[in-house]
Amino acid sequence: MKRKWFLLVLGLLGYTVSCFAATTVAPIHQAKGMQCEVCHTVMPKADYNKCLMCHGGKEKLAKSNSQHSILNSKESVPCSVCHKGHQR
Ligand code: HEC
Ligand code: HEC
Ligand code: HEC
Repeated sequence: MKRKWFLLVLGLLGYTVSCFAATTVAPIHQAKGMQCEVCHTVMPKADYNKCLMCHGGKEKLAKSNSQHSILNSKESVPCSVCHKGHQR
């Protein structure tokens, strides 16, 4: 029984990790009809202010999940630390 739980937890962990790492933001947006310019002002850098404009701003995002609380720090943390733009 203990072993079953262990395997289940391991499985869930593996799933979330691989899921998050494999999802890149560009295709999600392109699938909704958004163009490159919604995220890029000057190639190849992404413009994170644009992300914030569509996603409610730093304060609101910072509250949306525990990892986002890092967005409240003085340092500006690029979204791409966790949300990769494209598949490499
Ligand atoms: C949802 C936002 C988003 C969209 C839409 C998007 N990109 Fe990106 N793109 C990113 C992010 C985030 C990065 C990572 C940039 C960084 O590290 O500063 C990136 C990086 C890049 C790079 C640099 C190489 C790399 O992979 O890091 C190129 C070139 C690029 N994008 C081209 C495009 C083109 C062309 C399109 C349209 C077909 C597009 N992007 C659409 C978010 C986006
Ligand atoms: C033009 C507005 C716009 C811009 C700019 C934009 N997004 Fe989005 N984003 C959206 C919309 C609309 C969705 C789809 C929301 C949905 O399906 O509920 C989305 C979805 C997402 C999702 C997936 C949410 C989920 O439910 O899985 C993430 C993560 C995300 N965006 C991050 C970013 C990042 C990082 C950037 C900048 C590189 C960015 N977005 C730029 C509008 C935008
Ligand atoms: C420290 C890591 C980290 C950073 C930095 C980060 N995110 Fe996220 N983000 C996450 C995680 C984890 C989730 C939840 C993913 C899931 O549930 O699949 C998430 C989910 C999202 C979502 C969808 C659900 C929600 O909470 O609204 C959006 C939109 C989003 N992030 C946008 C952004 C934008 C824009 C930036 C940059 C300003 C950013 N994120 C920076 C980790 C991060």
